[in-house]
Amino acid sequence: MKLGFIGTGNITSDVINGIFRSDLKFKQIIISPRNQNKAKKLKKKFKKVIIAKNNQEVVNNSDWIFIGVLPMVASQILPNLIFRKNQTVISFVATLNLSNLKKKINCKVNLVRAIPMPPISLGLGPVVICPPNKKVKKFFNKVGTSIEIKNEKLSNNFWAISGTMASFYETLKNLSDWLVKKKTDRKKAQEYVTSLYFALAGLALKNSNKNMKKFVAGSQTPGGLNWQGVNQLRKAGYYKSLQNSLTDLLKRLNKS
Ligand SMILES: NC(=O)c1ccc[n+]([C@@H]2O[C@H](COP(=O)([O-])OP(=O)(O)OC[C@H]3O[C@@H](n4cnc5c(N)ncnc54)[C@H](OP(=O)(O)O)[C@@H]3O)[C@@H](O)[C@H]2O)c1
Repeated sequence: MKLGFIGTGNITSDVINGIFRSDLKFKQIIISPRNQNKAKKLKKKFKKVIIAKNNQEVVNNSDWIFIGVLPMVASQILPNLIFRKNQTVISFVATLNLSNLKKKINCKVNLVRAIPMPPISLGLGPVVICPPNKKVKKFFNKVGTSIEIKNEKLSNNFWAISGTMASFYETLKNLSDWLVKKKTDRKKAQEYVTSLYFALAGLALKNSNKNMKKFVAGSQTPGGLNWQGVNQLRKAGYYKSLQNSLTDLLKRLNKS
């Protein structure tokens, strides 16, 4: 199988790194020339990666084409590309829905939207795919963990959650910066914060059949440090703001 990527940016680089860590069998990966630096790095790192002259060459030489460009760029370039019937097109674009993608591609391809996230480069993390597609599910189960969502409207809820990645890292940054201000070496501070949160998430993941509220309750004793911390943030509207930001992300996604 030949895989092609249009838009050689951050998420494409992460997915390609993840593919090479996996035991997936494929003939070659052809990538578009932009971004030049990222494309060159990937070609240097992986023998099976080749750089196309342009986006159409990616389409012509691939069985599956992944779209990893920004929404505006996708809207501009897709109508000018000629796809073949029965090619599989997997769009990573957050704010272009299936119906808009279909119109822009204007060919009977097998179309899937997917949400890989950066840890896919390490073979970690969920990849939401919609609509369900057996082969694409099998593919992403080798690179990360596929989660099939039947209905696009429901899949937008997952896109909204994926839009909290930067705020999650902002939280880790705030905690690390605070330790650094208290005279801890930056590396040690970041290692402590990230390994603590990685472990806490790992424990919750192992027990994902349990309602999350059990973790909230089980991690605090009345009057204790965690009790004080969570209640102060609740009172300040911290979690309300988080819910509001999800509502607004979803509104934007449902309009796209
Ligand atoms: N990053 C994530 O974690 C993530 C997760 C899920 C989905 N997504 C989605 O994936 C898409 C890409 O995100 P990203 O974060 O990877 O963005 P990015 O790093 O900015 O990558 C976009 C790439 O598209 C290239 N490009 C621009 N114009 C092009 C054209 N006409 N033809 C071909 N390539 C062109 C850019 O090259 P230049 O640098 O030369 O302009 C850049 O390398 C977005 O739609 C986003 O919603 C991202």
